[in-house]
Order: sequence, then structure tokens, then C-alpha cells
Amino acid sequence: MSTDEYELRLQRSWRTNADAWTRAVRERRIASRRAGTDAAILDAVLATGAHRVLDAGCGEGWLARALAARGCDVVGVDASAELIAAANALGGARFDVAGYADLDDHRTEFGFFDAIACNFALLGEDLGAPLRALRRRLAPGGKLIVQTVHPWSACGEAPYADGWRVETFAGFGDDFREPMPWYFRTLASWITAFVSEGYEVESATEPVDAASSRPLSLLLRASLRKRTSAA
Ligand SMILES: C[S@@+](CC[C@H](N)C(=O)[O-])C[C@H]1O[C@@H](n2cnc3c(N)ncnc32)[C@H](O)[C@@H]1O
Repeated sequence: MSTDEYELRLQRSWRTNADAWTRAVRERRIASRRAGTDAAILDAVLATGAHRVLDAGCGEGWLARALAARGCDVVGVDASAELIAAANALGGARFDVAGYADLDDHRTEFGFFDAIACNFALLGEDLGAPLRALRRRLAPGGKLIVQTVHPWSACGEAPYADGWRVETFAGFGDDFREPMPWYFRTLASWITAFVSEGYEVESATEPVDAASSRPLSLLLRASLRKRTSAA
């Protein structure tokens, strides 16, 4: 399958599975989220002291609502109109349909953000394009916080190398109608993409499941590298 076909199926799965995903999140069916990843991203954003926050790839909007309830001014955006409809049905923050590519210089209505959170929402092969789009929405000194699957935990039996994989959502409920292609990347691949796009990785943390002592996720906090003038 070509990269374009993978990307198309990836986007389509979030439209087709919007209701199933919304139920899985709101009924707290995802064990890793209960075990610590929800708390980890929430704490990481709050620890920045940010007031204006963009929840990029917000899905049905749980994180945006949780941050707004704690006093942040939050905008949630997602490429899936169906998930944004679910987010708006509950409210609690501003939600808009927008893919990462829409966050460029022309969409000035979004303004700039002290922090951008991206929770399990960077799923495609081209990481450079979303990282470039997100940096355009960061206020000076702003932080980008990305939580993703832990490369070592998620690798399974497959070779430890970047490549497309398939998520069937088994264990999240039997109402998911379409599998989701997603792009696995190694730890080095994540860090390299951030650095290539002008970010400095300030911290990398690995929330651990207290029951199994296994890592639940990888959480990266980055800011834009300051330009140094040539001597
Ligand atoms: C695993 S869900 C996570 C949703 C939410 N962040 C959460 O924590 O529940 C991945 C989300 O990324 C969104 N997404 C994928 N590609 C995107 C893109 N190019 N632009 C914006 N959102 C995207 C999907 O629509 C989906 O809502």
C-alpha cells in the first residue's frame, strides 16, 4: 500500500470509528489511560503554567475539557468532523474541525498558544509537516507536549524499526468498524524529527504502570530552539 493510501485510511478510521472511540474514552475502557497516561498528559501541561492551550488532535475532547476545568483557555482541534461534533455536544472548551495542515500562518483566528498538547495524535508517517504546522501556533517560550505509545512497549514481535502498523482496537469494545493504520517510530526517530524541525527536547519521561512496572507511554516536552546569530 502507498503512503497516501495509509494516510487516507488513517483519517477515514477516525471518522468511521468516531462513536466507538467516544464511548471507549468516556466509559474509560482503555486500561493504559486509567493506569496513568491521562494523568501524565494533564499534569505535564499544567506543570508548564500555560494559560492558552491548544489540544491538537483532541478527539472527543476529554483533555481540553479537563484543562478548561482547571482554568486554562483551551482550543481543541481535530481533523475528524465526527469527533469534533461529539466534543461540541459536551462543550466545556472551544472545538474546531482542523487538521494539522490547517494550523498554518493563514489560520490566524486560532492565535498563539503557551502550550500545545498532542495526546496519541501524531500517527502518520510524515512527522515533519505537523511539527512545522504546530510550531507556527506556539507563542514565544511556548511548549509542545507530545504523548505517544512507548516505542519499546508497542514494538511487540515486529522489528524495532520505523514502519506502518495496524491498530484493531481489540479490547476497547466491539463496536469499532475499521482498523487504523499508524506509523510506528523508534525513540531515535521521534527525537530526530523534533530536532530537525527546530525543537529542543527539554524532557522525555516514561510513565510506568504501577501494576506491571512496564512503561505506559513516552512523553516529550519541547520548545523552539533559540536562533543563535553567527559570530
Ligand atoms: C488516538 S486519538 C487521540 C484523541 C485525543 N487526543 C485523546 O487523547 O483522546 C487520535 C486523534 O488524532 C486525530 N488526528 C489524526 N490525524 C490528524 C491530523 N492530521 N490532524 C488533526 N487531527 C488528527 C484523529 O482524528 C483522532 O482524534
